[in-house]
Amino acid sequence: MDGLTLKKLLKKADEGGYAIPSFNYSDIWDFMAIVEAAEEEGAPIMIASNPLVVKAIGADCCGAFGEAAMARAKIPLVHHLDHSFSVEMCGDCIKNHYPSVMIDASKYDLETNIKYVNEVMALAKPYHVHVEAEVGKIKGKGIEGDFKGGDFLVQVEDAVELVKQTNVDSLAVGIGSAHGFYQGKPQLNFERLEQVNKAIDTPLVLHGGTGIPREDVQKAIKLGINKMNVGTIIHCTYMNSVRAELNRVGDNAYTLDVMSVVKENIKKVVKEWIRTCMADGKA
Ligand code: 13P
Repeated sequence: MDGLTLKKLLKKADEGGYAIPSFNYSDIWDFMAIVEAAEEEGAPIMIASNPLVVKAIGADCCGAFGEAAMARAKIPLVHHLDHSFSVEMCGDCIKNHYPSVMIDASKYDLETNIKYVNEVMALAKPYHVHVEAEVGKIKGKGIEGDFKGGDFLVQVEDAVELVKQTNVDSLAVGIGSAHGFYQGKPQLNFERLEQVNKAIDTPLVLHGGTGIPREDVQKAIKLGINKMNVGTIIHCTYMNSVRAELNRVGDNAYTLDVMSVVKENIKKVVKEWIRTCMADGKA
């Protein structure tokens, strides 16, 4: 698996009217649950570690595990670095066999954002690694990022300029989605999404999946989203299931027994999201 294969997967998704779901993992248990669910649904997926996970486990171990999992998976599986604010971490993950990385320099002005994206492109291209960038901002508070201002909406001309100057492989766009749980119904700016999609050919990514209603996700896919990021609901299902199962069995539980129950709960959530993205049966 390399970035070129991901490019083809995203193109196929664009032509087929579905999105590649990308799920955030924290360790091997949710990683395994996500992959099993995708195999049972016959869906191509991406599986992503955020920088906190990379720091905690190490790019070397995450990379080695990801590489083995991609080789073994019965579906197209792409290991991805999510929301790196650091060029250095992108470089580390590229060296450790990640086929895809995201450099999120959206907090800077456009010129600086472009500069960082180009630095990562230079590191990535010799290894055929796919690079995702971001224009506009993802709102909300979550472990993948924290932006509370009102100035989140992507400007079409910024997306055009960034793509022109970097030739980046995919682009996350700020259209009102947020990391973490939403307060109230998410208000996505579909009109802006459509305008960006018409202005550039680059695959578009929607972050902040948790809490976006199914019909809005599917509308966004129709208007140009090719990759859909989902994190919070995975972490929360994981932790809440651990607590419920430990409460049920009491002291001295065996890890694998607990995790077999936890994994099933995570798999249910992942399968629902795969169907929401209409990626089931598309492997
Ligand atoms: P949620 O945590 O809101 O699902 O968003 C995940 C995400 O966008 C990761 O980049």
